[in-house]
Amino acid sequence: MNLNAFISKAATPVNFITSWEAPSNIALIKYWGKEDIQIPKNPSLSFTLSSSVTKTSVNFKPSNSENFDFDFFFEGILRPDFNPKLVTFFKNIEYYIPWINGYKLIIKSNNSFPHSSGIASSASAMAALSLCLMDLENYLFPKMSEAFFYQKASFLARLGSGSASRSIQGPVTIWGENKTLKNSSNLFAISFGDGLNKIFKSYQDTILLVDKEAKSVSSSKGHDLMHNNPFAENRFIQASNNLDSLLSVMKSGDLESFIKIVELEALTLHAMMMTSNPYFILIKPNTLEIIQRIWSFRTSQKLPICFTLDAGANIHLLYPSDYKRRICAFIDHELKPFCQNGQYLMDQVGEGARKL
Ligand code: PMV
Repeated sequence: MNLNAFISKAATPVNFITSWEAPSNIALIKYWGKEDIQIPKNPSLSFTLSSSVTKTSVNFKPSNSENFDFDFFFEGILRPDFNPKLVTFFKNIEYYIPWINGYKLIIKSNNSFPHSSGIASSASAMAALSLCLMDLENYLFPKMSEAFFYQKASFLARLGSGSASRSIQGPVTIWGENKTLKNSSNLFAISFGDGLNKIFKSYQDTILLVDKEAKSVSSSKGHDLMHNNPFAENRFIQASNNLDSLLSVMKSGDLESFIKIVELEALTLHAMMMTSNPYFILIKPNTLEIIQRIWSFRTSQKLPICFTLDAGANIHLLYPSDYKRRICAFIDHELKPFCQNGQYLMDQVGEGARKL
């Protein structure tokens, strides 16, 4: 896809209000390492979630000033501390949505998951905001196709946070060029499309909240450290190969292979953190305790349960919906004691963003 296709035109400002809900996502093939700006070093694949969402409404008000301006409210409170991240986002996308100048935006955002749960909300937040922007662009230039609407929403979201590109559609999305999928792109994420095995459409993700503190090393810093990581080049090749293998597993439903690839990806992500310079560790003793218990339970019960991790200490427990009852009992008896305040969130694979 040509970058120029994403450049819109200027237009006379109009008063416009819209609201969108966008989901969080959990990567199975991890994106860790990028080039300017937000071009991934390897392709990634994620499950779109269902209950962990951000709801955002934007009131676009024509303003007398030539300059663009905004107020950001989070959970009903004006939060200027979020402005630097949003200013960077708007600077990154202004070139592609020149009609934004001459507006004052009132942005109101809420998360369904508890604030400071250690769950990154930038993916769902940037995706929801990008969809609101695209809704106005679609109103200003109504000839846009639905496919382009979602593609450009993903393109804009990527410029806010790379993984946000995967928070527009569902149930499984892929971001980054790869040889298996001809329509894949580094600029936006695509949906898995036809052939996804039925089992993955209702896959469960129970998020075990091991540590609810903000991460000690941000993901932008972590991506940056991949530039000097001596294992980086091999890691990028490994991720591409793992993606190829996982793509066929997502069709066949071979859960044994699924588990091997997903856990390998999670542990390799954290191995990259431990081998960066300076090195850092985001997992906690309870993360390891839970992993050991998952492995024992899997061996003794012969159930296809596995884990993945994002850039933090929390565990995403993945399993087919058919085993929900037995696995919930296991979580309550064996894993809950290792979660901070015994907290976990039940989620599952979802269909993607929606207009409210
Ligand atoms: O989108 P970012 O810059 O926050 O990076 C996300 C990195 C991981 O969550 C660790 C992996 C991924 O692919 O989502």
